Amino acid sequence: MSDALQQLKTELERFGAANDAAVAERSRRMLNITRDTGELLAVLVRAAVARRVLEIGTSNGYSTLWLAEAAQSIGGEVTTVERSDLKVAMARANFERSGLSAAIRQVHAAAGDVLARTARESVDLLFLDSERSEYCAWWPEVDRVLRSGGLLVADNAVSHAAEMAEFVALVRSRSGWASCLVPIGNGEFLAVKNAREP
Ligand SMILES: C[S@@+](CC[C@H](N)C(=O)[O-])C[C@H]1O[C@@H](n2cnc3c(N)ncnc32)[C@H](O)[C@@H]1O
Repeated sequence: MSDALQQLKTELERFGAANDAAVAERSRRMLNITRDTGELLAVLVRAAVARRVLEIGTSNGYSTLWLAEAAQSIGGEVTTVERSDLKVAMARANFERSGLSAAIRQVHAAAGDVLARTARESVDLLFLDSERSEYCAWWPEVDRVLRSGGLLVADNAVSHAAEMAEFVALVRSRSGWASCLVPIGNGEFLAVKNAREP
């Protein structure tokens, strides 16, 4: 990791913590993943050789930096989706500073619309960190856009276990999927879509 990228991540960690402690309005909170979750995501991208990463929920781009750095190292890129004007602008400025812009495609839109127009089996790793109440409704598209053998990662599976329970149960009920809960950060729910028989 370059010194500049390391410095930017540290700066965003401090900003996110201070901002979220001071601001009550949810739409103005950064709600970033933890650093160890970023490290986990980076390992998963590299281990799965996930060159096509889709992130739902950019905020100001902290998690995107982890995903993009790892994706770029294997010749891949990240598409990241955010609907908030404010956060899209904040993330854009952070991506320009990061030196990772070439590996990041920002989409300023509602995630449900983006998922609906994403091609079948075109995503290697999908990171869900957005409006948890929407996850069950998004599931058919999540299942469709991930390739066989692709990996789904969803944040907040421990910190907001009750809100995540229905979605976790839905994924666990699907044949052909294998899943687990990783107690890192806010709790990461991992599920892999099994490769089909040729
Ligand atoms: C938990 S934050 C993402 C944090 C980010 N992944 C990080 O760790 O730096 C969730 C984000 O999802 C965005 N969001 C919520 N619902 C959305 C939707 N339907 N479409 C697009 N973005 C949405 C919110 O505006 C918010 O910025």
